[in-house]
Amino acid sequence: MMKRRPLVVANWKMNKLPSESSAYIKHIEKELIRYPDVISVLAGQDVLLPAMLKAAKETSVAIGAENMYWQEKGAFTGETSPAALEDLGVTYVIIGHSERRNYFRETNEMVNLKAIAAIAHRLIPIIAIDEPIVQGDDNDRSHWVVNQVIESLEGISAQQAQHVILAYEPTAAIGSGQPITPELAEFSLRRIRLTLADMYDWPTANAIRIMYGGSVKPNNALELMRQPDIDGVLVGDAALNPDTFLELCRLAN
Ligand code: G3P
Repeated sequence: MMKRRPLVVANWKMNKLPSESSAYIKHIEKELIRYPDVISVLAGQDVLLPAMLKAAKETSVAIGAENMYWQEKGAFTGETSPAALEDLGVTYVIIGHSERRNYFRETNEMVNLKAIAAIAHRLIPIIAIDEPIVQGDDNDRSHWVVNQVIESLEGISAQQAQHVILAYEPTAAIGSGQPITPELAEFSLRRIRLTLADMYDWPTANAIRIMYGGSVKPNNALELMRQPDIDGVLVGDAALNPDTFLELCRLAN
C-alpha cells in the first residue's frame, strides 16, 4: 500500500493580520527543513494570502485559502473565485468547514460544487466533514458522516479523488479543548475510508488522505497521528502560535 505523506494544516480562521502572517512564516521556515516528510500548510483569510504567498516563496510552506465560491466569475459581490486563487498561486483550499456549514448554511451540494471547481483550477480541496451534536444514536451520526462524504464527492472521478483531502472534524471537539479519543477518531476515519472504498475502490481509498481536526495540541497529536487512518491534523487555536505549529510538524514527521 502506498505510504501517505503526513500533513499538518493550520487553519487560522479569522485570527491574524497580514503583517503577522509574514512574521509567522519567517519564524517557522528554517526549522521546517528539519521535517521533510511533512506537508505543512497555512490557511488564512483571503486578504492575507498575497502576504503569505510572498513570505512563503522559496520555503517548504504551502498556502491555502479557507473558502472560495464555485462560479468562474460574475456578479457575486464579496466572493472569491477559484480562478483568482489559482492565479495568485494558492495550493490548497479548505471547503465546507463546520463553521461555514453552520454559520453560512453551506450544504453538501455547495461543497460538492466548490470541490469540483477547485479541482478544475488545480487547487487541492481539503473537504471538511463534520459530525454535529445531534439527537440520535450512533447510526444517525454515522449516516450523517457517510452522507457528507458521498454527496461532497459526487461526480469526482477516482483519479481526481486521489488528490482530494478529507478532514473529519466532530463539531463538539472544535475549539473546545476536548478532542475525541484517538480510538474514536480512528473509528470515524476508518468509516470514511470504507465509504471511499465503496464509492471507488481500495487503491483509491488508500490513496486519499484523511485528517482529523478538533482541539489538536502537541500533547494529543502523536496518539492521534499514530492511528492507521489518520494522515494528518487540521489545527485551529494551537496553530496560531508558530512554535506550536513547528512542534506539531516535528511530531508528524
Ligand atoms: O479547522 C480546524 C478547526 O476547526 C479545529 O479548531 O481550534 O479546535 O483546533 P481547533
